[in-house]
Amino acid sequence: MKSIILLGGPGVGKGTLADFLKKQTDYIHVSTGDMLRAAIQSGSPVGLEAKSFMETGRLVPDSVVLRIVEERISQDSTGARFMFDGFPRTIEQAEGLDAIFKRLGGSLNHVFNLVVERPVLLRRLTGRRVCKTCGAVYHVTSRPPKQEGVCDVDAGELYQRTDDSEATILNRLEVYEKQTVPLISFYRKKGLLRDIDAGGKAEETDALVLKVLTA
Ligand code: AP5
Repeated sequence: MKSIILLGGPGVGKGTLADFLKKQTDYIHVSTGDMLRAAIQSGSPVGLEAKSFMETGRLVPDSVVLRIVEERISQDSTGARFMFDGFPRTIEQAEGLDAIFKRLGGSLNHVFNLVVERPVLLRRLTGRRVCKTCGAVYHVTSRPPKQEGVCDVDAGELYQRTDDSEATILNRLEVYEKQTVPLISFYRKKGLLRDIDAGGKAEETDALVLKVLTA
């Protein structure tokens, strides 16, 4: 079974698209950002190692990320197909993923490169709010909860991620340009890359990607 990658800078809507695809397909969502935030919250050794990198918008070391991804993939049967969100983020991680697939079985079908202009990214990230208990993602203007500060799903408290401050967002964008953008040509050369205009409404992005997956 073949897996997919949702590639793109901070705030392009990878998590929002993944939430939609989870409901429409059998891809298993693997978000390294979510896994690392959970590790920090639980106070595990991985969390302790990742904390300072994430708070400042720098990438967590490749070795740590590859270890948690391999652990996650090995929990499912060899027939499972995955939807990677926010991973890989460096050429080393992409090569590491190939090596994991060689060891555990699996391969890639598509890499969706979500493209959004920078001013839109800034607006999306500064307005993002997340549920403390279930992780549901909102936006103060484009996807507001019914009641301000309260999750529609489980009435949990909404909070702003610590790395969604303007200074850290700018750092994350710079890190993306330097360390992750090289993956675009890496996967284009392999014939796997599909550029997706993700600057419109979330439903438009959802439809573009679903069309490719169900073709
Ligand atoms: P991670 O959690 O992966 O963050 P990110 O890549 O910066 O992406 P975001 O979660 O910020 O954005 P998104 O694209 O998912 O957008 P979303 O759908 O939420 O990583 C965080 C940190 O962890 C990294 O900085 C790093 O330190 C570490 N890390 C993670 N993975 C790593 C790895 N592989 N290697 C090393 N380190 C790693 O949408 C954003 C907002 O916009 C929401 O409010 C949403 O409602 C809104 N929105 C979405 N789509 C639309 C739309 N079409 N129109 C209007 N609003 C929209």
